[in-house]
Amino acid sequence: MFLHLLLLLPLFSRFIENGSSTVTSTYIRSEWPSVDIPLDNKEFAVPEGYNAPQQVHITQGDYDGKAVIISWVTFDEPGSSQVHYGLSEEKYDFTAEGTFTNYTFYTYKSGFIHQCLVGDLEYDRKYYYEVGQGDSSRKFWFVAPPKIDPDASYKFGIIGDLGQTFNSLSTLEHYMQSGGQTVLFVGDLSYADRYQYHDVGVRWDSWGRFIEKSGAYQPWIWSAGNHEIEYMPYMGEVIPFRSFLFRYPTPYRASKSSNPLWYAIRRASAHIIVLSSYSPFVKYTPQYKWLNEEFTRVDREKTPWLIVLMHVPIYNSNEAHFMEGESMRAVYEEWFVKYKVDVVFAGHVHAYERSYRISNIHYNVSSGDAYPVPDKSAPVYITVGDGGNQEGLAGRFKDPQPEYSAFRESSYGHSTLEIKNRTHALYHWNRNDDGKSVATDAFVLHNQFWGSNRRRRRKLNKSHLHSVVFRRPSSEQM
Ligand SMILES: [Fe+2]
Repeated sequence: MFLHLLLLLPLFSRFIENGSSTVTSTYIRSEWPSVDIPLDNKEFAVPEGYNAPQQVHITQGDYDGKAVIISWVTFDEPGSSQVHYGLSEEKYDFTAEGTFTNYTFYTYKSGFIHQCLVGDLEYDRKYYYEVGQGDSSRKFWFVAPPKIDPDASYKFGIIGDLGQTFNSLSTLEHYMQSGGQTVLFVGDLSYADRYQYHDVGVRWDSWGRFIEKSGAYQPWIWSAGNHEIEYMPYMGEVIPFRSFLFRYPTPYRASKSSNPLWYAIRRASAHIIVLSSYSPFVKYTPQYKWLNEEFTRVDREKTPWLIVLMHVPIYNSNEAHFMEGESMRAVYEEWFVKYKVDVVFAGHVHAYERSYRISNIHYNVSSGDAYPVPDKSAPVYITVGDGGNQEGLAGRFKDPQPEYSAFRESSYGHSTLEIKNRTHALYHWNRNDDGKSVATDAFVLHNQFWGSNRRRRRKLNKSHLHSVVFRRPSSEQM
């Protein structure tokens, strides 16, 4: 059955990637009200014990996946910033020393935010770790990724605009059943900025406890959205991204970035570039110069899959946030096409949408050629801003559906990208209301470097054959 599906999917996917039909799903889901889960709900429960670590989460800590940054918060006193870890359960042979910090936001005083880099990991191994002290210590685990290899298989989840409602919980629980190994988060985390004064910090804390059930066990790769800006002059808070930057570290220095808001990592067979929609990005800015350099560091022979994350979608046919990504498109789209980015994931619009491979790099106002056209070198653009936050769904799409838009639906959910090898990946959008007899969006993504180039694949097949012949021990040749 699965084999049949695999055989059929390439045909289906070719249609999907290059086709011309457009789909606006008429599916209407039942949903919980768009209100945040009350603070006394068990989803936000504070772990028991004096100074017990809470809000535990991990992210990749280096360029190639041999390190993680482990973060947690304690409230009673700073306590220890050490992480004890090892390769077997409850046997922690190693210790890493971290640091702690805290911050204020109006009258809110954060807990002690601990961050500890755990490095020199062995690829493909399960690690057990412990944070906190005495009876209040807590134990978790994570799995180090496979080594950087062009055929390393790996399953990413993509979540955006999550918030902390019962719809958010449904998204998180569905994602946790998907088998995803790392979350690519496309911005707008807690929606704490929907609150005022002291409660902003309180809702960052509740969100940290909310996502711990996934975030403590696998890396979440962070990008920032508008809800992270928190420019709130009425209470004297005017430094952008303050709460986010204190709470959610990124390994930006490992990719030679000068700012935690934009950076890159390599994981398994993927090179992932994280951009900041709300930081300067035009020519001559640090983000622009860094991205220019980072694209030259991409080696598709080692990491065939080139993925870009940002918050504001470049192509979006929803009434909500229409054209907001146009300024970044004007600056970066040319590079996305030149470097054959496989897929660009964004959030911001609280709905799901996928584009065909299209570009608008020959945009010319004076000749009237100011619209996107099919382009085989262009990425697929996917908006996954449907995590389920308190602002509700963006239900009004532009009518008629533009030709570049392949599939769109206003429902909550998440996506997965399951990389199989250097040529193929299975992509799936998962509506939270699964189990219904309504098709969600799924297709095979062909790699832009390997999947579309027959000559390169033929060369690869030949060299594989050579290596098999020459490596075979003499005893086996008999
Ligand atoms: Fe947003």
